[in-house]
Amino acid sequence: MTTKRGKFLTLEGVDGAGKSTHVQWLVDTLRNKGIEVLSTREPGGTPIGEKLRELLLHEPMGLECETLMMFAARAEHLRTVIEPALSTGIWVVCDRFTDATFAYQGGGRELGYDRVETLEKWLHPDLQPDRTWLFDVPLTVARERLNRTREQDRFEKMADAFFQRTREVYLARANAHPTRMICVDSTQSIDNIRKDLELDIAQIIDAAATQ
Ligand SMILES: Nc1ncnc2c1ncn2[C@@H]1O[C@H](COP(=O)(O)OP(=O)(O)O)[C@@H](O)[C@H]1O
Ligand SMILES: [Mg+2]
Repeated sequence: MTTKRGKFLTLEGVDGAGKSTHVQWLVDTLRNKGIEVLSTREPGGTPIGEKLRELLLHEPMGLECETLMMFAARAEHLRTVIEPALSTGIWVVCDRFTDATFAYQGGGRELGYDRVETLEKWLHPDLQPDRTWLFDVPLTVARERLNRTREQDRFEKMADAFFQRTREVYLARANAHPTRMICVDSTQSIDNIRKDLELDIAQIIDAAATQ
């Protein structure tokens, strides 16, 4: 019998949108339905990736270096964690993936999309998430939420215009990939958001069962 490939599910959105608030809940919900799930994040998810994450979040660097390091971390993550899991039937829930590089480096930092696309085509030409939840909030909400949480990292300290560009790229990608990406209005209450997510998860599980 051949093993059915696992589903690859990602969470996206600007800092403060609510990804971390829902990631563990998503994983628990899937596990409660009997699915084997691996929970991970980007940048990070491997020993090298976590070291690169530290540098990326706290060390000032040029845009080329930043983009290549994001993909360097991603390459290890794909090779040693994500692909092995998916190919043995394990579902992967990942807090950020390549959409974030398009949004942050491509849009926020204004690298443009061509180079991000080139790296994407090099490193994972045939892999896209099966579902991406884009947690969307206006800047004022994101800022307000971040201010009440933790000390802010390099990206979270960026100017409003950076956030705005990043959010706009995310929204444009959700428009361009309506089957894969679902835009979640993350100004709603956590409970309401989870009701919507639960319906979507049920659909994904149903679709996977009949494949
Ligand atoms: N729907 C929501 N309503 C109110 N507060 C929220 C909501 N979602 C997240 N928060 C709060 O906003 C802050 C940032 O959320 P977090 O999940 O860390 O965002 P992200 O991981 O996307 O940066 C946290 O303090 C969290 O409790
Ligand atoms: Mg987070």
